[in-house]
Amino acid sequence: MIIKETEDLIKNLSKKNKINFIPTMGNLHRGHINLLKIAKRKNHFSLVSIFVNPLQFNDKDDFINYPRTIDSDLKILEKNNADIIFLPQKNFLNNLDTSVQISNLSKKLCGLDRPGHFSGVAIIMKKFLNIIKPSFLTLGEKDFQQVLVIKKLINDIFLHTKIILSPTIRDKDGVAMSSRNNLISKDKKKLLPMIFKILNFISNKITQSGLNEKELELIKAKFLKAGFERVNYLDILKEKTLCDLNESPANARIFISVTIDGVRLIDNYQVIGRLIRKENLIKKVSS
Ligand code: PAF
Repeated sequence: MIIKETEDLIKNLSKKNKINFIPTMGNLHRGHINLLKIAKRKNHFSLVSIFVNPLQFNDKDDFINYPRTIDSDLKILEKNNADIIFLPQKNFLNNLDTSVQISNLSKKLCGLDRPGHFSGVAIIMKKFLNIIKPSFLTLGEKDFQQVLVIKKLINDIFLHTKIILSPTIRDKDGVAMSSRNNLISKDKKKLLPMIFKILNFISNKITQSGLNEKELELIKAKFLKAGFERVNYLDILKEKTLCDLNESPANARIFISVTIDGVRLIDNYQVIGRLIRKENLIKKVSS
């Protein structure tokens, strides 16, 4: 079986090398290449997987339309000296009758409008980590909630893999790299820089003069007026737990998901709060 062969290969490799695992769903861009570069810079043995995991798509069309570019992906990985490329096939999921729930973290943000998404991510990552047993796992900050979910999985089942977080890679105009950007029409793409601008605006506003819920609602309305179809969420939460802020903006993060041209995008931004005062906090205002 392929899995057995992979396991044997990895067992032999891990005796001599510290494996750094970089899981992807392909359609590789600069964000993914940066993950690989981090592993190479640390002299880790890089293992990149490409697998479009059907279990984490709550929408069948989203799974079908997800960009698949295996030939160019392989060229990119070769050019950037990936040590091993792992390409599981459909049978990787055969007869699967186990599920993994990361309960609390999955009840927030993407977990709300993508039911089942994080249990799909968690089960595939459990399988990967079980086969590969990597010393390191390099993940992108853009999928911040996913990173928290995987971290919780690793802690809860006593694995020893350490997570390395790579900063979100952005275009010059602040647009976060995402495979989904390729699904958006040229015209609508022009609106994307607004996301990062608003994240910066909110961050500054929180630390300088505070922000209330009404103002947050106005910001959401601005997106719709500009031509976005939906703001799936725009929240400022504690970054370690995704709980509501109650004391200070320290360790707070702004999370956003919007839909544009039928494509759902996410981004997030850490609030750098030097001027921490009680009145800077998001406060509910009575309307
Ligand atoms: O971030 C992704 O590409 C996927 O969610 C992952 C981590 C490869 C699991 O399928």
